[in-house]
Order: sequence, then structure tokens, then C-alpha cells
Amino acid sequence: MSVLAKQSASFEHGSQPSVPRHVAIIMDGNGRWASARGVPRAEGHRRGVDAVRETIRAAAELGIKHLTLFGFSSENWSRPRDEIELLFGLFRSYIRNDLRQLDEAGARVKVIGRRTDLPPDIRLLIDEAERRTDANRRVQVNFAFNYGGRDEITRAVARIAAEAADGLLDPEAVNEGTIADHLDTASIPDPDLIIRTGGELRLSNFLLWQCAYSEFVFLPIYWPDFRKDDLEEALGLFEGRSRRYGGIGAR
Ligand code: FPP
Repeated sequence: MSVLAKQSASFEHGSQPSVPRHVAIIMDGNGRWASARGVPRAEGHRRGVDAVRETIRAAAELGIKHLTLFGFSSENWSRPRDEIELLFGLFRSYIRNDLRQLDEAGARVKVIGRRTDLPPDIRLLIDEAERRTDANRRVQVNFAFNYGGRDEITRAVARIAAEAADGLLDPEAVNEGTIADHLDTASIPDPDLIIRTGGELRLSNFLLWQCAYSEFVFLPIYWPDFRKDDLEEALGLFEGRSRRYGGIGAR
């Protein structure tokens, strides 16, 4: 039986899978990758898209069921306008060019983040991508685009407050589940593993609520250099971790 078949079998039979169900990645270092080669930052971002393609393919092959990729943060609006336009353009052309292939590969696409500030054509593309791939189950790819963890929690709290004011929800009954259900990630399991490339040791406002018990792997390589081997290395480190969720674990 191949590694992939064994992993799918372990999912089907409900035993503890050796691969994390949900891997989330902070794709950092595109700019430094470009500077190190004396090419424009734009080239780093373009090569970053190639790494996105390879990572989605690798995640599906390895049996990861949810892959979340941080493509544009709510703080990235502070970048120069031309870089913002470039990142939007890359996301736009990625969805246009790759949607069919993602669909055929059994990938379900979802986008998390504040949509209202995005250009209308990108919002339409996101709607189309989510609708077209909605029935796919091989791997779910969540693009965090115009995403910030604090912004997501703030929007969730505002919705909960509005529902309480409308009498649809009892404030006394608000619990952790209520908050989780109002986040953009409502239908997505919490990340088991968060990977950050680029060498920085921080979370940068990514999945703040959801990362409560995530394992972290920080890799010193720049995102455009990230390959299947690097994902496998991170999975190997994850496998060696003991997850106790505040308890004392098996002794
Ligand atoms: C961080 O590198 C990366 C980003 C801000 C954007 C990540 C975007 C992509 C990989 C392309 C987007 C496309 C899709 C399909 C989601 P940085 O610019 O902060 O690098 P630096 O820290 O070295 O300057």
C-alpha cells in the first residue's frame, strides 16, 4: 500500500493520522528572495505563486485535508500602492488561470478575510471559485486574503452583538462555540500545524483564535524556495511533537 493510500485509510478508519489534518502557512520572504538575487520584489512574489501551486499539489498528495495560505494581510495595505496592485493582480490571474486545474484536482477553494474592501472583480472571482469547487473534498485550500486575526474576531463580535440586539441570540448563552461559529473559519478545523517561512519568529495576526493549540514550525528558507521536501520536513517535526492540550498526555 502506498504512503498516500495508508494515510487515506487511517483517515477513513478514524485512527490518529500521522499527517496533520490542517496545515496553515505564513508565506514569508518573497522580497528577501528577490533582493538576494538582485531582481525586483515583484519577481519574488511571482515565484511565490509557483510555490503556492507546488504546495497545494504536495498537500493533496500527502493527505492534508485543509491547507490555509496567508496571501495578503489586513496590514499589507501599508505597502506601496504598486506592490498592493501586483499582489492583487497575481491573486486575480492565479484564480483565473488555475481554477479549472484546482477543480479537476479535487480542491475545494475558500477565501477567508474581509471581502468588502477588495476590488469588485476579485470578489466575483472568489465567489466563482468557491461555488465551482464547493463539492470537492480531496483537499480544501483556504486563501487568507485581506485577512487579519484581530479583524476577523472583531467582525465576529460585531455580528454576535447585532444578533443579540435583534433578539436572535441570548448574550448569556455566548460561549467559545458561538465565537468560532461566527469566524470566517466557521466550517474549518483549527490548524494542527502552522508553518512560517522566511526566518521570522512571529504570527503576524494570522489565525489568532484558531492557533490556541497549534504546533509551530519556523523555517529559515524564503517562500519562493519552499518545495514538497520542506513540507515533509515540517510534517516530520510535527510528528515528533507531543500535543497535550493543557492536559498531561499519555504517560
Ligand atoms: C511575504 O513576503 C509574502 C506576501 C506578503 C505575499 C504572499 C503572496 C504570494 C505568495 C503570492 C500571492 C498569490 C496567491 C495565489 C495567494 P514579503 O514580501 O513580506 O517578503 P519579505 O519579508 O522578504 O519582504
